[in-house]
Amino acid sequence: MKQKKALVVGNWKMNPTSLKDAKQIFTAIKRSLKTTQTSVAIAPPFVYLHTLKAGSSVSLAAQDIHPEEKGAHTGETSPLMLKDAGVTTVIIGHSERRAAGETDEMVFDKLHAALKARLIPIVCVGEKKRDKNGDFFSQVENQIKAALKDLPKATVARVVIAYEPIWAIGTGNNATVEDVEEMQLFIRKVVTNLCDRKTAEMMTILYGGSVNAENCHDLYHQSHVNGFLVGGASLRPADFATIVQSTAQLPS
Ligand code: PGA
Repeated sequence: MKQKKALVVGNWKMNPTSLKDAKQIFTAIKRSLKTTQTSVAIAPPFVYLHTLKAGSSVSLAAQDIHPEEKGAHTGETSPLMLKDAGVTTVIIGHSERRAAGETDEMVFDKLHAALKARLIPIVCVGEKKRDKNGDFFSQVENQIKAALKDLPKATVARVVIAYEPIWAIGTGNNATVEDVEEMQLFIRKVVTNLCDRKTAEMMTILYGGSVNAENCHDLYHQSHVNGFLVGGASLRPADFATIVQSTAQLPS
């Protein structure tokens, strides 16, 4: 399979708690990644988006999006607002949002809104726990099918899928290289069945869940994902830079 440029996205979630700290972390990340070959985006909390200025090698992402462009939706942020703030990429259906009530239907609507606004959508999928019968495969398959249904092939190829098993998020208990490789192949099989092999091969698939400066190299080079969605470690500039640099060379 032809290798593509890696993508690493940092999801700051509801951190840090001051604009001063956000600026400091963002500046340090930009400084350490001036010459990277990898596509890098940081998703800070919405309130910091307009102040943090994307650099030549680090762009801005959003942690969520509302399907409508404007209107009576208290507390929400629209695709047009994200564009206006310089956002290029948006995380959709993160498990923490799904746990707060986001459904597959909402993920579908948000994905359509992101694509319409020409934002790069990252759709998060992943199981709560692993069972011996392998039911987690069908859970992931159903999430992917619900998000991608009715999309033309050329559009599917623009969607990034992040495999984030919930049990691995924020636990320090990352999925193994073998688990990630198996799921990456499974996701491409699901997309092959939905569209075709070429579309599945073009798709960018990320892994997320306790990625850190120690495990990133093996996860990237041995499981053949196209990059990472990073939570905790993306708030530590030196660790985040190590993770990004681990993806700088294409896996053999
Ligand atoms: P983590 O979070 O890297 O802290 O496990 C990943 C995520 O939630 O995207």
